[in-house]
Order: sequence, then C-alpha cells, then structure tokens
Amino acid sequence: MISKCLFPVAGYGTRFLPATKSMPKEMLPVVNKPLVQYGVEEALGAGLSEIGFVTGRGKRAIADHFDVSYELEHQIAGSSKEDYLASIRDVMAKGSFSFTRQREMRGLGDAILNGRRLIGDQPFGVVLSDDLCVADEGVLSQMVKLYKQFRCSIVAVQEVPKEDISKFGVIAGKQIKDGLYQVDNMVEKPEPEDAPSNLAIIGRYILTPDIFEIIENTPPGKNNEVQLTDALLTQAKNGCVLAYKFKGRRFDCGSVAGFVNATNYVYENLYTQD
Ligand code: G1P
Repeated sequence: MISKCLFPVAGYGTRFLPATKSMPKEMLPVVNKPLVQYGVEEALGAGLSEIGFVTGRGKRAIADHFDVSYELEHQIAGSSKEDYLASIRDVMAKGSFSFTRQREMRGLGDAILNGRRLIGDQPFGVVLSDDLCVADEGVLSQMVKLYKQFRCSIVAVQEVPKEDISKFGVIAGKQIKDGLYQVDNMVEKPEPEDAPSNLAIIGRYILTPDIFEIIENTPPGKNNEVQLTDALLTQAKNGCVLAYKFKGRRFDCGSVAGFVNATNYVYENLYTQD
C-alpha cells in the first residue's frame, strides 16, 4: 500500500569540506556504516522497500554502495571477513534501488518533484538522511502506522530550543491527540520571533502524491528555493497535513557537532562488531 521511499541526496555537504570534496556527504561513516544506510534501513524496517534516490553530480558512490561489488565479494568469499558485509547484504536483499538526477539545486521541493518519475501516483516516504533517528520502533514505521489510520501527509516534528528554530521548517496546529497535530500553519526557517511554535520539522515525511502538482505551482520561497514546507502548507489548507511528535532521538548529522554526537551514540549503544 505504501512501498516507496524517496531520498533526496543531491546536497553538497559544504560543512564537511574537505571530506566531501570528492565523496558524497551521505557516504560519511557513522562508526562503520555510511550515514545514508541508516536511513535506508529505517525505510526498509517500515516496509518501504522501493528506494528512490534523487542524486546529483558526484554522487555515484551511493549507487555503488547499494550494488554488488564483485571484486570484493570474490576476494573475501568464504573468509570470516564476510561478516562485515552482513548489514549491506541484508539491505540489498530487501530493497530495490532507483536513481534520478536533480540537475540544479533548487530546493527540497524541487528535489521531491524530480523524484516524481520514481514514485508515480502513490503515497511515499521521504528521508533526509542528514537526520539520523534512533528509536525502539523506527520513526518511519511509527509514521506509516499513522498514515494507515489518517491517509494524509505527515511530517515528523520535535520540540527545539528557540535559538535553533530558524534552522527548521516550523509548524503550528491543533492537537488532535497526544503528540499529533493537524497543521494550520507552516513556516520555513523563520526568525525566532516569527516562529509559530517550537515544533520543528525533522527529515521524515509521508507524502500523498497530490504534493507533486502542488509543488509545481509553488513559487520559490525562503532562500529563493522551492520549499517543501510551502507546498505542505498549501496541502494543509486544502485538506489535511498532520505533524507527529515522534518517539525517539534525532541527530543532526548535517552539522559536525551532531555528526560527532551520533558517532559517539552509535558506538556506545548500537555498534556490535568486534
Ligand atoms: C530541510 C527542510 C526543513 C526541515 C529540515 C529538517 O531543511 O527544508 O523544513 O526542518 O530539512 O532537517 P535543510 O536542513 O535541508 O535546510
């Protein structure tokens, strides 16, 4: 019923230069696994097995990561080193992977619109892999359950301190049950004094496919980019968008400090190999 998940991965990763000069930021390892693989595992865990990447120039390593490496397989076949490939083999067995390119960086809304050809006319998940989420039940799984109940677009939100609010899309809405809001306002990266609440959007979405046409009709907004937040506000006004205060922790791996925190957390709590 909902089986596809889009990963916009065209961003440059300037904050991690020089590490990202010739390597996609999504391939930076959090301990021993590339950042993007955590997001893909979360999507697969939610039953979204058709993974679509909206890539750009210089992102081929991502496509290679989710494909067979014959040389490597040949070299370590039958040795104990095969264990190190277990997680990626599992991901490859469960998922299918498609790619399309965003030629110009015109914002998250535009990236999603570029993914239309991979999605077609069905609801889908979106993962911004910079946001690494850890939770007992994956954040996307939590959201898919809600989607089955409400059948409308859902954004994941988290309370953030006022001084950080201008890094995010921010929602306001009517609480319809504990931790769930019907959105009536949404602002992309407001000044703290203009923020409609302290509920910030984090990089997990379930979108209904009418969002594509709405994006097509959404003019560039903040930073002269086509903002998904603006399109979602239109969708909220015409119908329904929910904001869900997810259960779990989120690390901002788009910042160096957040990346280091995620690394420490994963190493201490999730890493199992000797
Ligand atoms: C994007 C969205 C923003 C959201 C954020 C979550 O911004 O535009 O609404 O709050 O992701 O990480 P970006 O961080 O890509 O600038």
